[in-house]
Amino acid sequence: MSRTALVTGATSGIGLEVARLLAAKGYRVLGTSRNPDTVAADRRIPGVEYLALDLADRDSVARCAEAAGAVDIVVNNAGESQSGPLEELPAEAVDRLFQTNVFGAVQLTQRLLPGMRARGYGRVVMVGSMLASFPLAYRGSYVAAKAALKGFASAARQELSPFGVWVSTVEPGSIATGIGERRTSYVADGSVYRRDFDTMIERLDANERSGIPPRRVAEVIVSAIEADKPREFYAVGSNAPVVFLLKRLLPVEFVSTAIARRHGLTR
Ligand SMILES: NC(=O)c1ccc[n+]([C@@H]2O[C@H](COP(=O)([O-])OP(=O)(O)OC[C@H]3O[C@@H](n4cnc5c(N)ncnc54)[C@H](OP(=O)(O)O)[C@@H]3O)[C@@H](O)[C@H]2O)c1
Repeated sequence: MSRTALVTGATSGIGLEVARLLAAKGYRVLGTSRNPDTVAADRRIPGVEYLALDLADRDSVARCAEAAGAVDIVVNNAGESQSGPLEELPAEAVDRLFQTNVFGAVQLTQRLLPGMRARGYGRVVMVGSMLASFPLAYRGSYVAAKAALKGFASAARQELSPFGVWVSTVEPGSIATGIGERRTSYVADGSVYRRDFDTMIERLDANERSGIPPRRVAEVIVSAIEADKPREFYAVGSNAPVVFLLKRLLPVEFVSTAIARRHGLTR
């Protein structure tokens, strides 16, 4: 009996590769898009069923869960990338980011959990970001949203694992998906932060362009799904093993300074 996997944001980057890999392995895959009827032919994977989902819209989340029916595996991958100095981030932008990257994923998962728990099997993967573990200037809203998602995941994992439902967070580093071109940006023209902001974005984009391919992240996500007892936390890209080891060994301020310097900021 093949398992059903719901992959949010299955039309690009990491989600596209997760959907491709799961479909190739024989899973029944439901992939989401805000516009499922207009998914380009080269992004449409044979066998994948496409559902509409806009995480920024609660009603859309409810309709997607309803349309999906019984789901064994959910990969909460879809997300918005956002940047801007704390002082200048519009409240509506922060609200939308948290609805999309945190509350939408949580609301979708809440609707799928009763079925997983009743069937005694479930896998929930939250796609976070290494930025949640290594905060970076002008990415505060994104950093905070990904940290919030990880918090939900780690707490829910303790609630759900006795029922055979395992919740994991996967934190990608820099991944070459082109996400930087879609990043929303909020900084005023005459902003006092403008020069540092532009420097940081330039470095960030360069890091993303030279990042690892999304397929590598998809392989980690699928290995988490297929583990008997998936781990609480995975990180992939940006030399994650070395970087996390250093984080454990070094004072927090040292690490923060190193992250800032890597993005052209002197602190
Ligand atoms: N790339 C990186 O370097 C990197 C690093 C760390 C973490 N991540 C995280 O990994 C995940 C995937 O990133 P990616 O680089 O693969 O991004 P991507 O290429 O931009 O793909 C994002 C996907 O999310 C969907 N999406 C966007 N806004 C949505 C919304 N409001 N509601 C529902 N779906 C929405 C898009 O689908 P439609 O446009 O078809 O709706 C698309 O399929 C994100 O959560 C991102 O934060 C990425």
